[in-house]
Amino acid sequence: MAEQHDHQHDHDHEPAGDAAQPVKVVGEEPDLSKGTARPITVFGNPVLHREVKDVTAFDGELSALIDDMFQSMYAAEGVGLAANQIGVDLKVFVYDCPDDEGVRHIGHVINPVLEELPAGSRRVLDDGNEGCLSVPTAYAELPRPDYAAVTGVDKDGNPIRVEGTGFFARCLQHETDHLYGFLYIDKLSKRDRKDALRQMAEGTPRYATVPNA
Ligand code: NI
Repeated sequence: MAEQHDHQHDHDHEPAGDAAQPVKVVGEEPDLSKGTARPITVFGNPVLHREVKDVTAFDGELSALIDDMFQSMYAAEGVGLAANQIGVDLKVFVYDCPDDEGVRHIGHVINPVLEELPAGSRRVLDDGNEGCLSVPTAYAELPRPDYAAVTGVDKDGNPIRVEGTGFFARCLQHETDHLYGFLYIDKLSKRDRKDALRQMAEGTPRYATVPNA
């Protein structure tokens, strides 16, 4: 998922000047001596438009993939990245994403499943602006529940559950959707989707992308 691109939020997240209070971090920063950034697949590449495969091998190759995914996400200045966004047919996503309380969440989830929210508990964000590294330079308003929980496993195969609120909840939903073949623009009205694709056609990404055949 792309960084927040919402004027209201831009102000909310400006550094607090000389207050210099440490940002609370949930998770561990990746070792950036490992991995290599890879180019990002974009709308129209088939790998983004179908469900990708469950991970079944928890080995060094999987760890190396996660390293590459963090590198690729940071190179593109994203806050979340799914494996099919670097052309890999596996259910893995990584994130380094703030929530609306200023907490920075860092991690990965393998074979994620979004938890169903109890009926009636769906609170919706009013000001949800969303973008995706695979729809470069486009943004659109998209209401989402402001709480999400994902279950899955970590790179060692241990069960994990990640929950989040606000912008991080949006990220968890967005990245899980990717692995089932959906982009956020697939959730927009026909008109807004068309507008997002127009923004993409008119813009130039600031990172390397995979050309579509
Ligand atoms: Ni995305």
